[in-house]
Amino acid sequence: MACDGFTSSIPKAATKSCLLLLFLVGMVSAQLSTTFYDKSCPRALSIVKSAIIAAVLKEPRMGASLLRLNFHDCFVQGCDASVLLDGINGEKTALPNNNSLRGYDVIDSIKSQLEKECPGVVSCADIVTLAARDSVVALGGASWQWQVLLGRRDSTTSNKTAANIELPSPFLDLNGLISSFANKGLTAKEMVTLSGAHTIGKARCIVFRERIYNETNIDPLFAKVRQLNCPRTGGDDNLAPLDAISPIAFDNYYYENLVNKKGLLHSDQELFNGGSTDSQVIAYKLNPNSFQQDFIKAMQKMNNISVLTGNRGQIRENCRKVN
Ligand code: HEM
Ligand SMILES: *[C@@H]1O[C@H](CO)[C@@H](O)[C@H](O)[C@H]1NC(C)=O
Ligand SMILES: *[C@@H]1O[C@H](CO)[C@@H](O)[C@H](O)[C@H]1NC(C)=O
Ligand SMILES: *[C@@H]1O[C@H](CO)[C@@H](O)[C@H](O)[C@H]1NC(C)=O
Ligand SMILES: *[C@@H]1O[C@H](CO)[C@@H](O)[C@H](O)[C@H]1NC(C)=O
Repeated sequence: MACDGFTSSIPKAATKSCLLLLFLVGMVSAQLSTTFYDKSCPRALSIVKSAIIAAVLKEPRMGASLLRLNFHDCFVQGCDASVLLDGINGEKTALPNNNSLRGYDVIDSIKSQLEKECPGVVSCADIVTLAARDSVVALGGASWQWQVLLGRRDSTTSNKTAANIELPSPFLDLNGLISSFANKGLTAKEMVTLSGAHTIGKARCIVFRERIYNETNIDPLFAKVRQLNCPRTGGDDNLAPLDAISPIAFDNYYYENLVNKKGLLHSDQELFNGGSTDSQVIAYKLNPNSFQQDFIKAMQKMNNISVLTGNRGQIRENCRKVN
């Protein structure tokens, strides 16, 4: 084989093609692919899927929590499972995550099943990505073909400061939301699409209190009802559904709520408040299929942010600790 014994005695032409070959092989191994585990762990995808279906049947909100976990992973250092590392300087302890992000146990349990099946093969980062896709599908969303590119590797670091800075706050205005996503290579349109994730799951009183007591672009009856379980003082952790119409169905009612001034978070209602994204909100309210199809594409793009491939990073044995 032309590349055996890579020495100066190789003719110039052969050296060139060897370098080209090595370069191409390097490129291929550094790309994500849908077939990444087909040989090394053929049952990986079905193991994840069954575990997610079971977790969502047991507690439907878990599907929402796992989708958010994926978002918070990808927005800090890229989709590298940095969000899963324990430790006082880890992302878990950052303000948007502390006492808020959930689903770690479900990921741990999937990881331990996969370590039994094929030790050291499936990354925590890929598990998080698959779990988000399978959660959305389990809650009735994205019934089209949703392929997940695989082959991400796990980080050896976690950055609390970055999580505090780079995860968007629910108090941002439209421009702030757009620039937060632009910093991650995502368009304003993709920001509106991905925000449709708030068609499932819950939020704590502390993140929507200001809105239900002080904002004017809110349906008055909706505000009153939310105030019943979110007093002016106390009850910070009391929960309300982000989409009260269908809190455990991955549908397009989130956008209908926005049109009706029933967005729960300040940041939600910013997407329909007389600005440049109003028309997209109306379009998604009217056309559920276009929302669902765009959502798959935007998730695929989000799950491509700064991934570690090839020999960068590692395959953690335990998602909470570096090897
Ligand atoms: C556009 C900027 C966004 C902001 C400001 C934002 C903010 C928030 C906040 C404050 C909560 C409630 C957390 C709590 O009270 O503990 C929440 C929940 C949630 N977020 Fe977002 N989010 C954004 C975008 C996204 C995206 C892109 C996704 C996923 C693709 C997502 C998925 C979720 C889900 C599913 C929940 C409910 C989680 C659960 O019930 O455990 N969010 N978000
Ligand atoms: C996170 O929440 C725990 C439990 O409420 C609290 O003791 C801790 O101080 C919080 N950590 C940070 C960094 O805010
Ligand atoms: C953590 O993130 C902050 C903010 O993005 C950055 O300035 C800092 O260099 C990062 N720390 C490490 C160790 O990468
Ligand atoms: C609402 O606005 C008033 C007046 O500015 C302020 O005192 C109050 O703290 C704000 N927040 C809530 C939850 O009422
Ligand atoms: C993912 O990122 C790679 C490398 O940056 C790029 O070539 C590819 O087109 C991206 N794929 C998607 C679906 O965004």
